[in-house]
Amino acid sequence: MKLKIALLAGDGIGPEVIAQAVKVADAVAKKFNHELNWRPALTGAAAIDAVGEPYPDATHEICATSDAVLFGAIGHPRFDNDPTAKVRPEQGLLKMRKKLGLFANVRPTFTFASLLDKSPLKRERIEGTDLVFLRELTGGIYFGEKGRRDAGETAFDNCVYTRAEVQRLAKKGFELAMKRSKKLCCVDKANVLETSRLWRETVQAMEKEYPEVTVSYEFVDAVAMRLVQWPNSYDVLITENLFGDILTDEASVISGSMGLMPSASLGANIGLFEPIHGSYPQATGLNIANPMATILSAAMMFENFGLLEEGKAIRDAVNSALEKGIVTQDLAEDDHSYGTAEVGDWLAKSI
Ligand code: IPM
Ligand code: MN
Repeated sequence: MKLKIALLAGDGIGPEVIAQAVKVADAVAKKFNHELNWRPALTGAAAIDAVGEPYPDATHEICATSDAVLFGAIGHPRFDNDPTAKVRPEQGLLKMRKKLGLFANVRPTFTFASLLDKSPLKRERIEGTDLVFLRELTGGIYFGEKGRRDAGETAFDNCVYTRAEVQRLAKKGFELAMKRSKKLCCVDKANVLETSRLWRETVQAMEKEYPEVTVSYEFVDAVAMRLVQWPNSYDVLITENLFGDILTDEASVISGSMGLMPSASLGANIGLFEPIHGSYPQATGLNIANPMATILSAAMMFENFGLLEEGKAIRDAVNSALEKGIVTQDLAEDDHSYGTAEVGDWLAKSI
């Protein structure tokens, strides 16, 4: 296959982890005879510094004409501590999601046999955990009308969903459930929120199209609790934007390190693949960040093109690195750990 891939390294540790994913993806391409054409573009604080905005039109042009986007991380502390900043790196991410139509954010949480004792949860609670969140990504409170009134003394963020937005996300959820254990959980707050009642009603109406799927409806606060009590009781979960943002951070540490979990954002056409973690500014340039989440995101990218063997080659390499202790300091057993680039080199070589 010939693939054009937009490469958005972004901020903080983004460029370092992206460089490792490129090494590994290139190794896979060589092994399986694919041609990857990487197309770098600016985003985030790096783009604000260069051209004054976080998702420039030139970057959108490159993304929109590629087969996929591989994304590093976005965010810089300079903006976090300045609530008056007019332009923020995160706006770039939201604009990109909206303009590329990436409405479904796929965020898996799975465990690695060799890391069960690294989890903040007890081994017996997490053994066998393998779940996937489908987070709605281009609607809800993130994109509703927001502002101030009463001379700035009152602020509001509206949460709006249309039935069509819920349906297209839920459809992906049902389809994924059919490929897995045929279990779907709709996460909402239907006891309080009108948008959640629309979610529940819409998903209920779709159940008859997927008679083999067992659907449970659970309130978001209860799911937050059960996720740490019995994560292995869940399989596919669908939820709106903000609930999904919060729950997927919670779920991401179950495996032992946030530096391990990949994600995909899908829409009608192209997909975007990125690690779940952020830009980890304190580690920038230190060659200590764990590149595995970004590398596993590249695996999801191959799999999304139907290249399952290629994805598996990456997953197998990551598993064997974890077993052999070829890991960055977040996962190291003793004082001996490897650098970001060394982990990338090892994985590329082993593939
Ligand atoms: C995420 C991030 C973003 C979000 C931020 C950076 C805007 O937290 O991808 O989960 O809230 O969606
Ligand atoms: Mn988040």
